[in-house]
Amino acid sequence: MAVASPATVSRCGMVYLTTDELGWRPFVQTWIQKRFTDYELMSDHLKEHLYATFDATIDIGLEYIRNHFKEPIKTTDLQLVNSVTNFLDCFVDEKKGFKGSEDDKKKLLECLFAWSYAWGLGAGLLQAGKDRLDTIVRDNFKSAQIPPSHTVYDYFFDLKKEKIFKLWLQKLPAFVYDKDASYFDLMVPTTETTRHQYCLEQLLALEKPIFFTGASGVGKSAIIANTLQQLKDKGVLKPITINMSAQTSSIRTQQSIESKLEKKKRNTYGAEHGKKIAIFVDDINMPAVEQYGAQPPIELLRLFLDQKGMYQRGEWEWKHVEDSTIIACAAPPEGGRAQLTPRLTRRFNLFCIPEASSGTLTTIFTSILEGFLRTGFIDKVKNLRDPVIMSTIDIYNKI
Ligand SMILES: Nc1ncnc2c1ncn2[C@@H]1O[C@H](COP(=O)(O)OP(=O)(O)OP(=O)(O)O)[C@@H](O)[C@H]1O
Ligand SMILES: [Mg+2]
Repeated sequence: MAVASPATVSRCGMVYLTTDELGWRPFVQTWIQKRFTDYELMSDHLKEHLYATFDATIDIGLEYIRNHFKEPIKTTDLQLVNSVTNFLDCFVDEKKGFKGSEDDKKKLLECLFAWSYAWGLGAGLLQAGKDRLDTIVRDNFKSAQIPPSHTVYDYFFDLKKEKIFKLWLQKLPAFVYDKDASYFDLMVPTTETTRHQYCLEQLLALEKPIFFTGASGVGKSAIIANTLQQLKDKGVLKPITINMSAQTSSIRTQQSIESKLEKKKRNTYGAEHGKKIAIFVDDINMPAVEQYGAQPPIELLRLFLDQKGMYQRGEWEWKHVEDSTIIACAAPPEGGRAQLTPRLTRRFNLFCIPEASSGTLTTIFTSILEGFLRTGFIDKVKNLRDPVIMSTIDIYNKI
Protein backbone atom coordinates (compact mmCIF):
# COMPACT_ATOMS: atom_id res chain seq x y z
CA MET A 1 0.00 0.00 0.00
CA ALA A 2 3.03 2.29 0.32
CA VAL A 3 3.31 2.40 -3.47
CA ALA A 4 -0.32 1.81 -4.57
CA SER A 5 -3.23 4.07 -3.76
CA PRO A 6 -6.56 2.51 -2.65
CA ALA A 7 -7.93 3.51 -6.07
CA THR A 8 -5.30 1.41 -7.85
CA VAL A 9 -6.09 -1.53 -5.63
CA SER A 10 -9.85 -1.33 -6.10
CA ARG A 11 -9.44 -0.99 -9.88
CA CYS A 12 -7.71 -4.38 -9.82
CA GLY A 13 -10.78 -5.82 -8.14
CA MET A 14 -9.09 -6.56 -4.83
CA VAL A 15 -10.52 -6.25 -1.37
CA TYR A 16 -7.64 -5.19 0.83
CA LEU A 17 -7.67 -6.03 4.51
CA THR A 18 -4.76 -4.76 6.54
CA THR A 19 -2.89 -7.35 8.57
CA ASP A 20 -3.49 -5.15 11.63
CA GLU A 21 -7.24 -5.68 11.27
CA LEU A 22 -7.05 -9.31 10.26
CA GLY A 23 -4.29 -10.46 12.62
CA TRP A 24 -2.50 -13.81 12.37
CA ARG A 25 -5.30 -16.06 13.70
CA PRO A 26 -7.18 -16.67 10.40
CA PHE A 27 -3.88 -17.73 8.85
CA VAL A 28 -3.22 -20.31 11.57
CA GLN A 29 -6.82 -21.59 11.43
CA THR A 30 -6.54 -22.12 7.67
CA TRP A 31 -3.11 -23.71 8.00
CA ILE A 32 -4.33 -26.24 10.59
CA GLN A 33 -7.40 -27.05 8.50
CA LYS A 34 -5.46 -27.56 5.27
CA ARG A 35 -2.27 -29.13 6.61
CA PHE A 36 -3.76 -31.75 8.92
CA THR A 37 -6.39 -33.52 6.87
CA ASP A 38 -5.07 -36.90 7.99
CA TYR A 39 -6.94 -37.82 11.17
CA GLU A 40 -4.39 -40.56 11.92
CA LEU A 41 -1.63 -37.96 12.12
CA MET A 42 -3.59 -35.34 14.04
CA SER A 43 -6.96 -35.92 15.70
CA ASP A 44 -9.52 -33.12 16.06
CA HIS A 45 -8.68 -32.94 19.74
CA LEU A 46 -4.97 -32.43 18.98
CA LYS A 47 -5.80 -29.82 16.36
CA GLU A 48 -7.80 -27.90 18.93
CA HIS A 49 -4.92 -28.21 21.36
CA LEU A 50 -2.51 -26.94 18.69
CA TYR A 51 -4.66 -23.89 17.95
CA ALA A 52 -5.10 -23.19 21.67
CA THR A 53 -1.30 -23.21 22.04
CA PHE A 54 -0.91 -20.64 19.24
CA ASP A 55 -3.71 -18.60 20.76
CA ALA A 56 -2.16 -18.55 24.21
CA THR A 57 1.49 -17.95 23.33
CA ILE A 58 2.07 -16.10 20.05
CA ASP A 59 0.90 -12.63 21.12
CA ILE A 60 3.22 -12.71 24.14
CA GLY A 61 6.24 -13.42 21.92
CA LEU A 62 5.27 -10.87 19.25
CA GLU A 63 4.62 -8.18 21.83
CA TYR A 64 8.03 -8.81 23.34
CA ILE A 65 9.83 -8.69 19.97
CA ARG A 66 8.05 -5.54 18.78
CA ASN A 67 8.59 -3.60 22.01
CA HIS A 68 11.96 -4.63 23.31
CA PHE A 69 14.35 -5.23 20.45
CA LYS A 70 15.43 -3.79 17.15
CA GLU A 71 15.58 -6.50 14.50
CA PRO A 72 18.58 -6.46 12.12
CA ILE A 73 16.06 -7.04 9.30
CA LYS A 74 12.51 -5.95 10.03
CA THR A 75 9.91 -8.71 10.02
CA THR A 76 6.11 -8.71 10.00
CA ASP A 77 3.96 -10.51 12.56
CA LEU A 78 2.49 -12.83 9.97
CA GLN A 79 5.98 -13.67 8.70
CA LEU A 80 7.07 -14.77 12.18
CA VAL A 81 3.94 -16.85 12.74
CA ASN A 82 4.45 -18.39 9.30
CA SER A 83 8.03 -19.20 10.30
CA VAL A 84 6.70 -21.13 13.31
CA THR A 85 4.23 -23.08 11.14
CA ASN A 86 7.02 -23.79 8.62
CA PHE A 87 9.06 -25.52 11.32
CA LEU A 88 6.00 -27.42 12.53
CA ASP A 89 5.43 -28.49 8.90
CA CYS A 90 8.91 -29.99 8.97
CA PHE A 91 8.46 -31.93 12.20
CA VAL A 92 4.83 -33.01 12.43
CA ASP A 93 5.39 -35.94 10.15
CA GLU A 94 5.16 -39.64 10.96
CA LYS A 95 8.35 -40.36 9.00
CA LYS A 96 10.25 -37.90 11.19
CA GLY A 97 9.08 -39.68 14.36
CA PHE A 98 5.82 -37.87 15.17
CA LYS A 99 3.82 -40.96 16.15
CA GLY A 100 2.43 -42.89 19.11
CA SER A 101 -0.68 -42.60 21.26
CA GLU A 102 -2.71 -39.40 21.55
CA ASP A 103 -0.91 -38.58 24.79
CA ASP A 104 2.51 -39.28 23.26
CA LYS A 105 1.74 -36.96 20.38
CA LYS A 106 0.47 -34.24 22.69
CA LYS A 107 3.73 -34.37 24.62
CA LEU A 108 5.78 -34.33 21.39
CA LEU A 109 3.75 -31.40 20.08
CA GLU A 110 4.51 -29.44 23.27
CA CYS A 111 8.28 -29.89 22.75
CA LEU A 112 8.20 -29.30 18.99
CA PHE A 113 6.07 -26.21 19.43
CA ALA A 114 8.42 -24.75 22.05
CA TRP A 115 11.40 -25.27 19.72
CA SER A 116 9.58 -24.00 16.62
CA TYR A 117 8.32 -20.97 18.57
CA ALA A 118 11.86 -20.08 19.66
CA TRP A 119 13.36 -20.52 16.18
CA GLY A 120 10.36 -19.22 14.24
CA LEU A 121 9.89 -16.01 16.23
CA GLY A 122 13.42 -15.41 17.44
CA ALA A 123 15.99 -16.80 14.99
CA GLY A 124 16.31 -13.39 13.32
CA LEU A 125 17.11 -11.55 16.58
CA LEU A 126 20.57 -10.61 17.83
CA GLN A 127 22.02 -12.81 20.57
CA ALA A 128 20.70 -10.63 23.42
CA GLY A 129 17.16 -10.89 22.02
CA LYS A 130 17.43 -14.67 21.70
CA ASP A 131 18.64 -14.93 25.30
CA ARG A 132 15.62 -12.94 26.52
CA LEU A 133 13.16 -14.84 24.34
CA ASP A 134 14.51 -18.02 25.89
CA THR A 135 12.94 -16.98 29.23
CA ILE A 136 9.59 -16.43 27.52
CA VAL A 137 9.76 -19.83 25.85
CA ARG A 138 10.51 -21.52 29.17
CA ASP A 139 7.69 -19.65 30.98
CA ASN A 140 5.15 -20.57 28.31
CA PHE A 141 6.19 -24.15 27.62
CA LYS A 142 6.97 -25.56 31.06
CA SER A 143 5.80 -29.05 30.15
CA ALA A 144 8.32 -29.19 27.29
CA GLN A 145 10.99 -29.53 29.99
CA ILE A 146 13.80 -27.78 28.13
CA PRO A 147 17.00 -28.60 30.06
CA PRO A 148 18.02 -25.62 32.22
CA SER A 149 21.77 -25.41 31.66
CA HIS A 150 21.73 -23.61 28.28
CA THR A 151 19.26 -21.57 26.21
CA VAL A 152 16.63 -23.28 24.02
CA TYR A 153 18.77 -22.26 21.00
CA ASP A 154 21.52 -24.61 22.18
CA TYR A 155 19.32 -27.69 21.80
CA PHE A 156 17.64 -29.66 19.07
CA PHE A 157 14.76 -32.03 19.74
CA ASP A 158 15.63 -35.65 19.02
CA LEU A 159 12.29 -36.64 17.48
CA LYS A 160 13.57 -39.75 15.77
CA LYS A 161 14.94 -41.68 18.75
CA GLU A 162 14.97 -40.53 22.37
CA LYS A 163 12.31 -37.76 22.15
CA ILE A 164 14.32 -35.38 24.33
CA PHE A 165 16.20 -32.11 23.88
CA LYS A 166 19.89 -32.63 23.14
CA LEU A 167 22.78 -30.19 22.78
CA TRP A 168 23.92 -29.37 19.25
CA LEU A 169 27.37 -30.47 20.43
CA GLN A 170 26.06 -34.05 20.24
CA LYS A 171 25.38 -33.56 16.53
CA LEU A 172 28.72 -31.95 15.74
CA PRO A 173 30.58 -33.88 13.00
CA ALA A 174 34.36 -34.30 13.37
CA PHE A 175 36.57 -31.98 11.30
CA VAL A 176 38.61 -33.78 8.66
CA TYR A 177 41.59 -31.77 7.37
CA ASP A 178 42.01 -31.98 3.60
CA LYS A 179 45.53 -30.83 2.73
CA ASP A 180 44.63 -30.33 -0.93
CA ALA A 181 41.63 -28.07 -0.27
CA SER A 182 42.04 -24.29 -0.36
CA TYR A 183 42.08 -22.59 3.06
CA PHE A 184 38.83 -20.83 2.17
CA ASP A 185 37.04 -24.11 1.47
CA LEU A 186 37.88 -25.61 4.87
CA MET A 187 34.81 -25.54 7.08
CA VAL A 188 35.22 -26.45 10.74
CA PRO A 189 31.91 -27.67 12.22
CA THR A 190 30.89 -25.52 15.20
CA THR A 191 27.60 -25.18 17.10
CA GLU A 192 26.79 -22.22 14.86
CA THR A 193 27.39 -24.04 11.59
CA THR A 194 25.60 -27.18 12.82
CA ARG A 195 22.38 -25.54 14.00
CA HIS A 196 22.03 -23.31 10.96
CA GLN A 197 22.83 -26.15 8.60
CA TYR A 198 20.16 -28.24 10.35
CA CYS A 199 17.51 -25.50 9.92
CA LEU A 200 18.52 -25.02 6.29
CA GLU A 201 18.19 -28.71 5.51
CA GLN A 202 14.82 -29.04 7.26
CA LEU A 203 13.28 -26.03 5.51
CA LEU A 204 14.86 -26.73 2.12
CA ALA A 205 13.32 -30.20 2.06
CA LEU A 206 9.89 -28.52 2.10
CA GLU A 207 10.94 -25.74 -0.29
CA LYS A 208 10.56 -22.98 2.30
CA PRO A 209 12.44 -19.73 1.53
CA ILE A 210 15.32 -18.97 3.92
CA PHE A 211 17.22 -15.74 4.66
CA PHE A 212 20.55 -15.53 6.51
CA THR A 213 21.70 -12.23 7.90
CA GLY A 214 24.39 -11.19 10.38
CA ALA A 215 27.50 -9.01 10.46
CA SER A 216 30.09 -9.28 7.70
CA GLY A 217 32.38 -12.29 8.04
CA VAL A 218 30.28 -14.41 10.43
CA GLY A 219 30.10 -17.23 7.88
CA LYS A 220 26.67 -16.71 6.29
CA SER A 221 27.80 -17.46 2.74
CA ALA A 222 30.14 -20.24 3.88
CA ILE A 223 27.44 -22.12 5.84
CA ILE A 224 24.95 -21.95 2.96
CA ALA A 225 27.50 -22.86 0.25
CA ASN A 226 28.77 -25.78 2.35
CA THR A 227 25.29 -27.13 3.07
CA LEU A 228 24.24 -26.82 -0.58
CA GLN A 229 27.42 -28.61 -1.69
CA GLN A 230 26.69 -31.49 0.72
CA LEU A 231 23.10 -31.80 -0.53
CA LYS A 232 24.35 -31.64 -4.13
CA ASP A 233 26.85 -34.44 -3.40
CA LYS A 234 23.98 -36.52 -1.98
CA GLY A 235 22.15 -36.02 -5.30
CA VAL A 236 19.04 -34.38 -3.82
CA LEU A 237 19.61 -30.78 -4.80
CA LYS A 238 20.70 -28.62 -7.71
CA PRO A 239 22.04 -25.30 -6.43
CA ILE A 240 22.00 -22.18 -8.60
CA THR A 241 24.24 -19.48 -7.13
CA ILE A 242 23.82 -15.80 -7.92
CA ASN A 243 26.21 -13.23 -6.42
CA MET A 244 24.53 -9.86 -6.58
CA SER A 245 26.25 -6.51 -7.03
CA ALA A 246 25.12 -2.94 -7.70
CA GLN A 247 25.30 -3.72 -11.43
CA THR A 248 23.11 -6.85 -11.33
CA SER A 249 20.11 -6.42 -13.65
CA SER A 250 16.79 -8.19 -13.69
CA ILE A 251 17.46 -9.83 -17.06
CA ARG A 252 20.91 -11.10 -15.98
CA THR A 253 19.33 -12.60 -12.85
CA GLN A 254 16.68 -14.33 -14.95
CA GLN A 255 19.30 -15.63 -17.40
CA SER A 256 21.43 -17.02 -14.53
CA ILE A 257 18.42 -18.99 -13.31
CA GLU A 258 17.16 -20.08 -16.73
CA SER A 259 20.55 -21.33 -17.90
CA LYS A 260 20.52 -24.01 -15.18
CA LEU A 261 16.93 -25.21 -15.65
CA GLU A 262 15.75 -28.22 -17.60
CA LYS A 263 12.52 -28.24 -19.56
CA LYS A 264 10.15 -30.81 -18.03
CA LYS A 265 7.06 -30.24 -20.11
CA ARG A 266 5.50 -27.30 -21.89
CA ASN A 267 5.97 -24.21 -19.71
CA THR A 268 7.26 -26.32 -16.78
CA TYR A 269 10.93 -26.28 -15.83
CA GLY A 270 13.00 -27.77 -13.01
CA ALA A 271 15.99 -29.96 -12.18
CA GLU A 272 16.73 -33.59 -13.06
CA HIS A 273 14.33 -36.16 -11.65
CA GLY A 274 14.21 -36.31 -7.85
CA LYS A 275 16.22 -33.13 -7.28
CA LYS A 276 15.07 -29.82 -5.91
CA ILE A 277 16.31 -26.44 -7.10
CA ALA A 278 17.78 -24.04 -4.55
CA ILE A 279 18.54 -20.58 -5.88
CA PHE A 280 21.16 -19.12 -3.56
CA VAL A 281 21.19 -15.32 -3.88
CA ASP A 282 24.21 -13.93 -2.06
CA ASP A 283 24.33 -10.24 -1.07
CA ILE A 284 20.70 -9.85 -2.12
CA ASN A 285 20.55 -6.21 -0.98
CA MET A 286 23.30 -5.06 -3.37
CA PRO A 287 21.35 -4.23 -6.60
CA ALA A 288 21.10 -0.50 -7.27
CA VAL A 289 17.86 1.24 -6.34
CA GLU A 290 16.25 2.78 -9.46
CA GLN A 291 14.53 6.17 -9.68
CA TYR A 292 11.14 4.93 -8.43
CA GLY A 293 12.68 3.27 -5.38
CA ALA A 294 12.58 -0.34 -6.61
CA GLN A 295 15.35 -2.87 -7.20
CA PRO A 296 14.32 -4.67 -10.44
CA PRO A 297 16.21 -7.96 -9.77
CA ILE A 298 14.55 -8.09 -6.34
CA GLU A 299 11.11 -7.68 -7.92
CA LEU A 300 11.89 -10.60 -10.23
CA LEU A 301 12.82 -12.78 -7.23
CA ARG A 302 9.77 -11.62 -5.32
CA LEU A 303 7.54 -12.74 -8.17
CA PHE A 304 9.44 -16.01 -8.25
CA LEU A 305 8.79 -16.55 -4.53
CA ASP A 306 5.10 -15.74 -4.80
CA GLN A 307 4.34 -17.63 -8.02
CA LYS A 308 7.23 -20.12 -8.45
CA GLY A 309 8.17 -18.97 -11.89
CA MET A 310 8.80 -16.08 -14.27
CA TYR A 311 7.70 -14.79 -17.66
CA GLN A 312 9.45 -15.75 -20.87
CA ARG A 313 10.67 -12.36 -22.09
CA GLY A 314 9.34 -11.31 -25.46
CA GLU A 315 6.53 -13.83 -25.61
CA TRP A 316 5.38 -13.15 -22.03
CA GLU A 317 4.41 -16.76 -21.49
CA TRP A 318 4.55 -17.99 -17.92
CA LYS A 319 7.35 -20.44 -17.05
CA HIS A 320 6.63 -22.53 -13.98
CA VAL A 321 9.69 -23.76 -12.05
CA GLU A 322 8.76 -26.80 -9.98
CA ASP A 323 10.36 -28.03 -6.72
CA SER A 324 12.27 -24.80 -6.26
CA THR A 325 13.02 -22.29 -3.54
CA ILE A 326 15.23 -19.29 -2.80
CA ILE A 327 17.91 -18.92 -0.14
CA ALA A 328 18.93 -15.33 0.38
CA CYS A 329 21.88 -13.89 2.24
CA ALA A 330 22.80 -10.32 3.16
CA ALA A 331 24.39 -8.32 5.95
CA PRO A 332 21.90 -5.93 7.66
CA PRO A 333 21.04 -2.70 5.79
CA GLU A 334 23.62 -0.25 7.09
CA GLY A 335 26.78 1.37 5.71
CA GLY A 336 25.36 1.98 2.23
CA ARG A 337 23.51 -1.34 1.87
CA ALA A 338 19.93 -0.77 0.72
CA GLN A 339 16.92 -1.52 2.91
CA LEU A 340 15.12 -4.46 1.29
CA THR A 341 11.43 -4.15 0.61
CA PRO A 342 9.33 -5.97 3.22
CA ARG A 343 7.33 -7.35 0.27
CA LEU A 344 10.37 -9.57 -0.32
CA THR A 345 11.72 -10.21 3.19
CA ARG A 346 8.32 -11.16 4.65
CA ARG A 347 8.38 -14.41 2.63
CA PHE A 348 11.43 -15.83 4.43
CA ASN A 349 12.29 -17.71 7.59
CA LEU A 350 14.91 -15.30 8.87
CA PHE A 351 18.13 -16.27 10.72
CA CYS A 352 20.67 -13.89 12.22
CA ILE A 353 24.05 -15.54 12.66
CA PRO A 354 25.92 -14.18 15.68
CA GLU A 355 29.56 -13.17 15.67
CA ALA A 356 31.93 -15.97 16.64
CA SER A 357 33.05 -16.00 20.27
CA SER A 358 36.75 -16.28 21.10
CA GLY A 359 36.07 -19.94 21.98
CA THR A 360 34.61 -20.64 18.52
CA LEU A 361 37.49 -18.82 16.79
CA THR A 362 39.96 -20.90 18.82
CA THR A 363 38.21 -24.13 17.76
CA ILE A 364 38.24 -23.12 14.08
CA PHE A 365 41.89 -22.03 13.99
CA THR A 366 43.11 -24.94 16.16
CA SER A 367 41.40 -27.52 13.96
CA ILE A 368 42.84 -26.08 10.74
CA LEU A 369 46.35 -25.37 12.05
CA GLU A 370 46.53 -28.76 13.78
CA GLY A 371 45.69 -30.48 10.48
CA PHE A 372 48.24 -28.37 8.61
CA LEU A 373 51.07 -28.92 11.14
CA ARG A 374 50.50 -32.67 11.03
CA THR A 375 51.45 -32.73 7.35
CA GLY A 376 55.15 -32.76 8.26
CA PHE A 377 56.58 -30.26 10.73
CA ILE A 378 59.13 -30.74 13.51
CA ASP A 379 57.87 -30.65 17.14
CA LYS A 380 59.43 -27.24 17.73
CA VAL A 381 57.14 -25.74 15.11
CA LYS A 382 54.12 -27.87 16.16
CA ASN A 383 54.44 -26.56 19.71
CA LEU A 384 53.86 -23.03 18.44
CA ARG A 385 50.26 -23.89 17.53
CA ASP A 386 48.52 -22.53 20.63
CA PRO A 387 50.62 -19.36 21.12
CA VAL A 388 50.14 -18.45 17.43
CA ILE A 389 46.37 -18.87 17.69
CA MET A 390 46.04 -17.09 21.04
CA SER A 391 48.06 -14.10 19.88
CA THR A 392 46.12 -13.91 16.57
CA ILE A 393 42.76 -13.82 18.36
CA ASP A 394 44.14 -11.36 20.88
CA ILE A 395 45.21 -8.95 18.14
CA TYR A 396 41.86 -9.46 16.30
CA ASN A 397 39.91 -8.59 19.47
CA LYS A 398 42.05 -5.49 20.08
CA ILE A 399 41.61 -4.02 16.57
N1 LIG B 1 33.21 -22.65 10.80
C1 LIG B 1 34.11 -22.17 9.94
N2 LIG B 1 35.23 -22.87 9.64
C2 LIG B 1 36.14 -22.37 8.77
N3 LIG B 1 36.05 -21.20 8.17
C3 LIG B 1 34.96 -20.45 8.44
C4 LIG B 1 33.94 -20.88 9.34
N4 LIG B 1 32.98 -19.93 9.41
C5 LIG B 1 33.41 -18.94 8.59
N5 LIG B 1 34.58 -19.25 8.01
C6 LIG B 1 35.36 -18.42 7.07
O1 LIG B 1 35.19 -17.07 7.41
C7 LIG B 1 35.22 -16.28 6.23
C8 LIG B 1 34.03 -15.35 6.21
O2 LIG B 1 32.85 -16.14 5.98
P1 LIG B 1 31.73 -15.70 4.93
O3 LIG B 1 32.36 -15.19 3.68
O4 LIG B 1 30.80 -16.83 4.81
O5 LIG B 1 31.09 -14.51 5.72
P2 LIG B 1 29.77 -13.71 5.40
O6 LIG B 1 28.98 -13.73 6.67
O7 LIG B 1 29.13 -14.23 4.18
O8 LIG B 1 30.32 -12.23 5.19
P3 LIG B 1 29.82 -11.07 4.18
O9 LIG B 1 28.62 -10.42 4.81
O10 LIG B 1 30.99 -10.12 4.16
O11 LIG B 1 29.53 -11.72 2.86
C9 LIG B 1 35.28 -17.24 5.03
O12 LIG B 1 36.58 -17.31 4.55
C10 LIG B 1 34.83 -18.56 5.64
O13 LIG B 1 35.39 -19.65 4.96
MG1 LIG C 1 28.88 -13.45 2.28
